[in-house]
Amino acid sequence: MNKATNITWHEGHVDRADREALLKQRGATLWFTGLSAAGKSTFAFTLEHALVQRGRLAYVLDGDNIRHGLNKNLGFSAADREENIRRIGEVAKLFADAGLLVMTSFISPYRRDRDAARALHESAGLPFIEVHVATPISTCETRDPKGLYKKARAGELKNFTGIDDPYEPPLRAEMTIDATTVSPQAGAELLLAYLESQGLVKPA
Ligand code: ADX
Repeated sequence: MNKATNITWHEGHVDRADREALLKQRGATLWFTGLSAAGKSTFAFTLEHALVQRGRLAYVLDGDNIRHGLNKNLGFSAADREENIRRIGEVAKLFADAGLLVMTSFISPYRRDRDAARALHESAGLPFIEVHVATPISTCETRDPKGLYKKARAGELKNFTGIDDPYEPPLRAEMTIDATTVSPQAGAELLLAYLESQGLVKPA
C-alpha cells in the first residue's frame, strides 16, 4: 500500500552520465540468488574485491548484514521476505544509479520479487544481471556453516528455505554457477568475463 501522498519528484542538477564520467564506469546490479550456504556472499565478496583491485567501485549488499540494520525489523514469512527484497531492489537501483557496481546477496526465494527488482532496474535503464548460485541443497546442507540446516531438520527452525519453505529457481538467469564445482576465484573470473562481454568492465 502506498502511504506516501502529496509528494513531488525533485530533479537534481547532476545526472547519471555526469557520475559515470566522474567514476569512469557504468552502474549495474548483479543479483545473486540461491539457497542459504550456496556461496552467494562468497562469490559476491570475491567479485567485489577483484573489481576494486581493477579500480572499479563495487559494493556488496549482503542479506545477513542488511538484516542487522536496515532490515532488522523483518523476519522470514513470505510477506517479510517480499519486503526485504523490495527494499533491496530499491537500494540496489539507487546505488547503480549512483554509478556503482552493486552485488546483492539474498536468498530471494520468490521469482515474482526478483522479477520486480529486475523491472525496477530495467525501467530506469540500469543493467540487472541475475546470477543463480545453483549449488544443490545436498552441498549446502553438508557445508551448513551456521548449523541452520541441522536446526531446521530437527524442527527447531521453521520456514527454512529448501526444507519447509520454497525456493523458486530463476527461469532466465544471465549466469548460473554451482559452488560445488566452481571455486570463489573461478566464479569471480567468470563473472568478470561476463561483465566485460557486456561492456560494463573494461578488459584488464
Ligand atoms: S530472504 O529469503 O529474505 O532473501 P536473506 O538472504 O535476507 O533471506 O537471509 C537469509 C539468511 O538468514 C540465511 O543465510 C540464514 O543465515 C538466515 N536465516 C534465518 N532464518 C532463516 C530461514 N527461515 N530461512 C532462510 N534463511 C534464514
